[in-house]
Amino acid sequence: MKGIIFSSFLDFVELRLGDDFLEEMIDVSNLKTNGAYTNVGTYPVEELVTMLGYVLKMHAIDKDQLLKDFGCHTFGHLTKNYNHLVVDFKDAFDCIYNVDQTIHQNVLKLYPDAELPNMRAKILDQGNKLHLVYESSRPFMYVAYGLLDGCVKHFDDNVTIEMQDLSNGVGTHAEFYLTRDD
Ligand code: HEM
Repeated sequence: MKGIIFSSFLDFVELRLGDDFLEEMIDVSNLKTNGAYTNVGTYPVEELVTMLGYVLKMHAIDKDQLLKDFGCHTFGHLTKNYNHLVVDFKDAFDCIYNVDQTIHQNVLKLYPDAELPNMRAKILDQGNKLHLVYESSRPFMYVAYGLLDGCVKHFDDNVTIEMQDLSNGVGTHAEFYLTRDD
């Protein structure tokens, strides 16, 4: 997984749980990288899973909510680092509709080794609804949920997000219905 996702996670943990806990988590997780990630590097996703496990062991936080909050934070982190990839979209629907075919394709040009999820989007109901299917080798549907939420907040839109798990709780396959509220 690309280092930018790891650096987003470390940033998220620091903001949410503080410097001392961040250091403790890195020490205890026994990471090969020692928690040193560059945005362009590629690292084993297991390191992220181990750190997530430690957060959940030490704090009474719901796992799905933690993944959502991390995803929401990550949208901000990605756009801070790659603003040029999102700056031309007029609203959240425009951005989300283009994630798979435009944003992630541009990510692949920058990092040919990126492993991106498959996300098929369809606009329905005269532009008032967006249907999105998420499929990945990784169990990150709640991260996807949080990224969608982060995108809606970024554009300051009024959108309700509903998710249906299509992977029996594994988190690798889900569908989303986004509805404009105004
Ligand atoms: C609503 C918008 C977005 C959604 C729903 C989304 C979804 C995701 C998800 C769920 C992942 C984790 C990998 C997986 O589950 O298989 C991911 C990875 C990634 N996304 Fe997106 N994304 C969004 C926007 C963006 C933007 C704006 C950028 C860059 C500007 C971006 C760049 C990346 C990168 C670099 C990765 C890591 C790939 C890797 O580790 O190999 N995404 N995206």
